Amino acid sequence: MSPPTFATVTIERILPGGLGLAHAEGYTLFVALSAPGDVVRVRIDRVRGQVAFASIEEIITPSSVRVEPPCPYFGACGGCDFQQLTYQAQLDAKKEIIRDCLRRIAQIESPPKIVIHPAPREWQYRVRANWQLDPVTQRLGYFETGSHRVCDVEVCAVLAPRLQEILERVRSEIRSGSIDIFPKDVRAVVGDVDVSVAPPLAGFQTDDVTLSVVGESYLFNADSFFQVSPGLLAQLIGEASGDARGELAIDLYCGAGLFTLPLARRFARVVGIEVNERASGFAVRNLQQAQLTNASVVTRDVGYWLKENAQSFPSVDFLLLDPPRAGAENIVIKGILDLQPRHIAYVSCDPATLARDLKKLLAAGYTLISVTAFDMFPQTHHVETVAQLARKDG
Ligand SMILES: C[S@@+](CC[C@H](N)C(=O)[O-])C[C@H]1O[C@@H](n2cnc3c(N)ncnc32)[C@H](O)[C@@H]1O
Repeated sequence: MSPPTFATVTIERILPGGLGLAHAEGYTLFVALSAPGDVVRVRIDRVRGQVAFASIEEIITPSSVRVEPPCPYFGACGGCDFQQLTYQAQLDAKKEIIRDCLRRIAQIESPPKIVIHPAPREWQYRVRANWQLDPVTQRLGYFETGSHRVCDVEVCAVLAPRLQEILERVRSEIRSGSIDIFPKDVRAVVGDVDVSVAPPLAGFQTDDVTLSVVGESYLFNADSFFQVSPGLLAQLIGEASGDARGELAIDLYCGAGLFTLPLARRFARVVGIEVNERASGFAVRNLQQAQLTNASVVTRDVGYWLKENAQSFPSVDFLLLDPPRAGAENIVIKGILDLQPRHIAYVSCDPATLARDLKKLLAAGYTLISVTAFDMFPQTHHVETVAQLARKDG
């Protein structure tokens, strides 16, 4: 049977990746920007086997959790994909996405109850941004959904007000002709007081900024990783490091030391591993500034570091890993299993790769103690998750 071009469907639920699930004429449909319970007429955009990707042509009966997206760029801009949902429905969808990944990918029959911490700010929360710039059209903003065309965004509803000001200033510098060579993208971050923009543009500097989080002070800049949303960082750190204490803690993918500093206050010795030289340099400076001499930072690929060093640590009390979206490579999982830490805290920004990696850790003798979610990215399907694991004989 050939796939339909249009169909009228009911959205059953939101799937990992943020698309709505529906069925029509033997096909499984993934519907963008939908809400669970919506009855919609959709246009089929792409078909792969028995799966079709679709977009909404007409909302026949709106879901009870559908709201009018307030942002004028919503739908065109590829930045937000959850503005059509009430905030409670966004939180429910994220919990469901995590549960779905734990069941389907990690094959955990009864996942633990998932608590999600709501964001203190549903809008204007981002303190970091990466804006695309089209040198020909001078459009400045984010890529349009599924394309490399830049959506020109004058006001972005999820930017912290000080970052919105930077967006406006960058735009006016570009328009005034004071920039000779246009970069492909502009990165910006605001700290407690300062601002950092990269690459350095006329009128802006790539200075270091400082952000205070639960009594610690972190230096970083627009060119090194730091969390985009400071509102839930205290809770995230609290959940990730829990009440763990002991002799030795290892912090894999440590960035500028967000978790390394609090861990160094609880463990006799901490080792942080980070491949990006700029980020690891900040981690070292942040530890020095805090006078935490019991922690060291190695600039190295985590997989190779584990391969070379797993045997040198006979007893690891606590291991925290916070990998990028792709999760932990096989070499990393193998290295962690060689280390046999008593306790593991896995901080993840992608429930699917988290579940894939949990499956391997659980099969190798770890028990899943808890799964806690943090809504660090309201108005999008993205979610931060912390999974706590313990070694069965630990
Ligand atoms: C999600 S961030 C977490 C950083 C830090 N834990 C934080 O919360 O600020 C992931 C970090 O892993 C680093 N990274 C990516 N791949 C890596 C690898 N193969 N080995 C070591 N570090 C890596 C990135 O540079 C980035 O700083």
